[in-house]
This record gives sequence, C-alpha cells and structure tokens, in this order.
Amino acid sequence: MTLFTSQRLRFRELRPEDASPAYIGWLNDPAINRYLETRFSPQDADSVRAFVTAQAANPDIFLLRIDQTESGTHIGNIKLGPINRNHSSAHISLLIGARDMHGKGYATEAIRAVTQWGFSEHGLMRIEAGCYADNLGSLRAFLKAGYTVEGFMRSAVNITGNVRSGVFWFARLATDPAA
Ligand SMILES: CC(C)(COP(=O)(O)OP(=O)(O)OC[C@H]1O[C@@H](n2cnc3c(N)ncnc32)[C@H](O)[C@@H]1OP(=O)(O)O)[C@@H](O)C(=O)NCCC(=O)NCCS
Repeated sequence: MTLFTSQRLRFRELRPEDASPAYIGWLNDPAINRYLETRFSPQDADSVRAFVTAQAANPDIFLLRIDQTESGTHIGNIKLGPINRNHSSAHISLLIGARDMHGKGYATEAIRAVTQWGFSEHGLMRIEAGCYADNLGSLRAFLKAGYTVEGFMRSAVNITGNVRSGVFWFARLATDPAA
C-alpha cells in the first residue's frame, strides 16, 4: 500500500519479498555500497529478507521502498528511524540503488518527501543524517532538501586498510524554512 507520493516517486513499506536480485545486487555493488555499512558483509536473499523483517518489526523504524511512479520500478530505499519518541527526533538514510537513476534528483526528492512525512505524520521536530566526507552526491542532496551541516566527525569510519574518513553530520528542523 502506498503511504505517500512525491512528484515522481511513491513510497511504501519494504517487504521481505522485495528482496529481488536487483536489490541484492545494489548492496553487493562496490560503486553503490562504498558509503554504506552493509558493505562489511556480503548480502544475499536470506540476509536481506532477515534485515527487512527485523526493521518491519520495529515500530520506531520505517524502511520504505522507493518506486519511480511512471515505470513502477523499485529504484532504492529510504529509512526513517529509529525514531526517538522522547525527543521527537529521528535518523534518515537512503540508497538510490539503480545506477541509471542517479543524478536525476531522486535522492533530493525522496529526502524532501520523507522529511515532510516525518514532520507531519510522526510529529518529529528534528531529523538527522550523516554521510562520509567524499559522498558529495549525498551531501548535496541533503543540503538541497534543506538540511544544515552541524558538524564534521574527524576520522570517524574505516574505508579500507589504513584509510579512514570523516563524516558530515546534518539535520533539518520542523521549524526550518521550506526547502
Ligand atoms: C548519494 C545518492 C543518494 C545520490 O542520489 P541521486 O539521486 O543521484 O542524487 P540527486 O540526483 O538528488 O543529486 C543531488 C545533487 O548531488 C549531485 N550529485 C549526485 N551524485 C553526485 C556525485 N557522485 N558527485 C558529485 N555530485 C553528485 C547532483 O548533481 C545534484 O546536485 P545539483 O542539483 O546541484 O546538480 C546515490 O548516489 C546513492 O544512493 N548512492 C549509493 C548509496 C549512498 O551513498 N547513500 C547515501 C549514504 S549517506
């Protein structure tokens, strides 16, 4: 069931049966997973289904499937959560997995839509996210969607061997101007 839509996208909760070869392929593609925590272990149908099932069982996490409305194609996922109900805040993260869908503004559109949904449907006051320092596409998409960089965590993550990276931390408040 579609939860909400944006101009070119529709969003619904991801189900275990959405673990298609294409989706599993995104997670194992070094060009896609280089900025994702999932890269630390190989992904297959069982691991993806188990992950989706666990997320769906958590009432404070909304793992959503992003479909291109025109074609009905599954192009990526976006997660709102965990939600911290005490503080009316949440984390957001996403993946536009289909490489031929990159650079078309879909990440920006999805972040905007889910952020507004978090504010209006879940009463959130603050949504925050992080991205690796050289993930310029992600940084740009969050900035275009109205997020503000609040910090930079130095040498926060392992890339490979001795190479480490910093991580940008950003957030958008419900009271921030429209973006
Ligand atoms: C990062 C990612 C989300 C960007 O998705 P996208 O749909 O291509 O992003 P958008 O089309 O909305 O682009 C937003 C802006 O970033 C720019 N951009 C996109 N990819 C870029 C890249 N690799 N390098 C530099 N800029 C980039 C776009 O040109 C656009 O800026 P503009 O409007 O000024 O031209 C997508 O590449 C992805 O999912 N990658 C793999 C997983 C990942 O990194 N997830 C995020 C983890 S924090």
